[in-house]
Amino acid sequence: MCGIVGYIGKPPVVQTLLDCLGRLEYRGYDSAGIAVVNGRGIQVRKRVGKIKELVASIQQHPFEGTSGIAHSRWATHGLPTEANAHPHTDCRGSLAIVHNGIIENYAALKARLQANGHRFRSKTDTEVIAHLVEDYAKRLPVAQAFRRALKELRGSYAVCLIAKQDPQRIYGARAGSPLIVGVGDGEAFLASDVPAVLAKTRRVIYLNEGEVVELSSDGARLTTLSGAVIHRKPSTVSWDIASARKEGYDHFMLKEIFEQPSAVEQTLVNRLDAARGRIAFDRRTRAFLEKLKPNEQFVLIACGTAYHAGLVGEYMLEELARVPVDVDLASEFRYRGPMLTRDTTVIAITQSGETADTLAGVRLAKEQGAKVLSICNVMGASIPRESDAVMYTHAGPEIAVASTKAYTSQLSALYLLTLYLAKARGALSAVRWRSLVRQLSHIPSLVERSLRAEPLIKEIAKSYAGARDFYYLGRRYNYPSALEGALKLKEICPSIHAEGYAAGEMKHGPISLIRRGWPVVFLATDSPVYEKVVSNIEEVRARKGDCIVIASEGDQRIRRYATHLIPVPKTEELFSPIVAAAPLQLLAYHIAKLNRCDIDQPPNLAKSVTVE
Ligand code: AGP
Repeated sequence: MCGIVGYIGKPPVVQTLLDCLGRLEYRGYDSAGIAVVNGRGIQVRKRVGKIKELVASIQQHPFEGTSGIAHSRWATHGLPTEANAHPHTDCRGSLAIVHNGIIENYAALKARLQANGHRFRSKTDTEVIAHLVEDYAKRLPVAQAFRRALKELRGSYAVCLIAKQDPQRIYGARAGSPLIVGVGDGEAFLASDVPAVLAKTRRVIYLNEGEVVELSSDGARLTTLSGAVIHRKPSTVSWDIASARKEGYDHFMLKEIFEQPSAVEQTLVNRLDAARGRIAFDRRTRAFLEKLKPNEQFVLIACGTAYHAGLVGEYMLEELARVPVDVDLASEFRYRGPMLTRDTTVIAITQSGETADTLAGVRLAKEQGAKVLSICNVMGASIPRESDAVMYTHAGPEIAVASTKAYTSQLSALYLLTLYLAKARGALSAVRWRSLVRQLSHIPSLVERSLRAEPLIKEIAKSYAGARDFYYLGRRYNYPSALEGALKLKEICPSIHAEGYAAGEMKHGPISLIRRGWPVVFLATDSPVYEKVVSNIEEVRARKGDCIVIASEGDQRIRRYATHLIPVPKTEELFSPIVAAAPLQLLAYHIAKLNRCDIDQPPNLAKSVTVE
């Protein structure tokens, strides 16, 4: 959701900015723009549509600069037009701003600035920042004017600024929206996310809330909003540029689906020692878990796919660790007036660590005295930094908007947590516990095996590429799988309507729509509710619907009920969502591909939803 880049260093500055911005394409956007400082002042170019439109325009009428900023915009205030695209300038075009987030008090600020003679050219909330800085810069140096302006903003922002009178610097600040600093050799970067700068540097400083940074080609100077200097050394990111490239795959989504065995392995490695029967966490997480009360109440909060992982987590934590669990959509949790106490642990699940609703849920939990443990993929993101303890999933960068490897690595983290708590609470016999730990250690190879169904799934996709409605049905642990399978399809193939339901709910409404050839994807792996799922399959068949059934390998009986059968490795029920994930993702992927959809960047969606 909105990508920001800033660069100061070596020529060609414009090309570097465009390269970095291109690496943020996955975030979702509808217009793009760039501004540089050069001998002629500030030059701005903006285009509606893809970054390639902006690139083409610059190739036709090139310009260069000593430093610059660039932006891909996902419209919130004002239509996706050139006027509303970033960067925005002040009245005289002497400074330019790019911004991610929402300025909640922009209307009041705009009215005040207009009354003082400022002329606005866009419908955005962002433009007020440019005019505010302009106002203060009449009597203060740029750095101070920037900080004074920031102090007046309410809402969320990651913002970058260049100014004509200060061409050797770029400025950045964050509050509520992500911004990182990349420190190179004689060059420095600002970006919304690490992949933007990975090809240039792996040395990164994560800005904290309320911090301001001043970049020159010599490096970064951090201050508070009041100007107090902050000392922080860059950390080195473990991801490399290869992990942010497609590497021969047609889409990032497909690459990430096939990365799942290693992503899951990365979540488990160093934490799971099956040979010795041990689950270990880092010191902070262990200390956190050891302090939990016997009557601890758990609330899992998340959005989208991460919420589905949370739903699977609820089943396993309650059934195996015998702890009470609620799962909430973060966007509902924050508004339902939850009753939290010191004996509540809120588990925030998030790939990006920046999802606005989940972050707000974390803050609400802390305000009410609850503890927060986060499960997150992105190191140094806001949610892990505001949590009491973190389990990083280490799945590597997930670029496609549709979450795949992040989901299965979140499930893996929840398996670890469940088994750890089950042991701590004596909820399972030693024999059963060791058996589950051993099986968990085999999950990466089972996920690998489930990927082998791809050729079969590709064929099945051909039969349903023209379908316009799909149901996904499952029970217990695979009810969330049904929700996730449907989300994957509707997310990347917007012409298809897909709904996931608990199979037991079918008779309470959804069944009324089933007619000849209506595709229903069933999760019918080995479980105590297998027979009940088979009955649901019969009900669909009785109405001449088509049943695409994901079932355990070796299940001969299911053949006679299935229009199409996708076998997955046979596992304990609790592990079935993780082995069923890849076939669901692949089915969505191949249907979307046949429909020529923009798979990695579906329209209207953003990778990281940093506004409410
Ligand atoms: C998943 O495919 C979606 N793109 C979306 O639902 C996502 O899972 C959700 O926005 C939560 O994101 P997070 O994990 O980064 O918090």
